[in-house]
Amino acid sequence: MSHIILAGLSKKYSERRKKIRDAGEQLQAQSFQVLKDIDLEFENGEMVCILGPSGCGKSTLLRIIAGFDQATSGSVLIDGKQIQGPSEDHIFVYQHSALLPWMTVSENVGLGLRSIREEKQREEKIQEYIDMVELNGFESRYPYELSGGMQRRAELARALAVDPKTLFMDEPFTGLDFLTHMRMREEVVMMHLYTEKSVLFVTHDIDDALVMGDRIVILGGRPATVLLSRKLTYPHPRKITSEPELVELRREIFFMLGVPDAV
Ligand SMILES: Nc1ncnc2c1ncn2[C@@H]1O[C@H](COP(=O)(O)OP(=O)(O)OP(=O)(O)O)[C@@H](O)[C@H]1O
Ligand SMILES: [Mg+2]
Repeated sequence: MSHIILAGLSKKYSERRKKIRDAGEQLQAQSFQVLKDIDLEFENGEMVCILGPSGCGKSTLLRIIAGFDQATSGSVLIDGKQIQGPSEDHIFVYQHSALLPWMTVSENVGLGLRSIREEKQREEKIQEYIDMVELNGFESRYPYELSGGMQRRAELARALAVDPKTLFMDEPFTGLDFLTHMRMREEVVMMHLYTEKSVLFVTHDIDDALVMGDRIVILGGRPATVLLSRKLTYPHPRKITSEPELVELRREIFFMLGVPDAV
């Protein structure tokens, strides 16, 4: 569980563009701002779902909070401490699969458990996480022998095995079929209820955010600012259609993201 405060966070990238001038080519360096004055506060153990159009800076924001990238200005405080770099307390599940292809499911999950020296205890722990994501029976398979959804679940087990205080998930459901997506969504909600970890979850899917989130954050604009940060207190399992306020919020979000007729 972590208490996270983002204060006046901005990010500029330097953009290198090839410009043809006269007969020769020159590289021009320009800075281009992705995030502007992001102020947000996430309570201990919140599942925060971050939405926004493609390219608006969601992954950038996640990487900065996790300590993999640096903000140009502003600060990130996690439990009162300024973030200096990546830490074992903060585990990242990437937008694309990051299992090590030369390791089996067990070995991949075990990566997070290297600190446990006692072999038997380590194996029990690995099994516990494999069972949690329902991959029992597939312990000795290599990633290429798994379906996309199973790879995603193995990755989730590996991230959970580290027992981080905060889990960063960048579109972890990318490439899953509809049913696996729904099942994984339930699993992540259950995992969150069970472990009470802080989760920062980036998604393109508005319904994922409404069903899963304790808080929903919408980024938008160029540079991106916070369009909405709203706490959701509806119990789980959550059904959007049975909560009139969620139906209304869903409509508002579609409007905010520029597709009012999609509802
Ligand atoms: N290392 C980098 N150097 C320069 N520009 C970058 C870098 N990483 C990202 N960008 C730019 O910053 C902007 C935001 O990228 P980011 O990956 O954070 O978007 P996103 O909201 O996660 O998009 P998507 O939903 O498509 O994953 C984009 O315009 C991208 O081109
Ligand atoms: Mg992204």
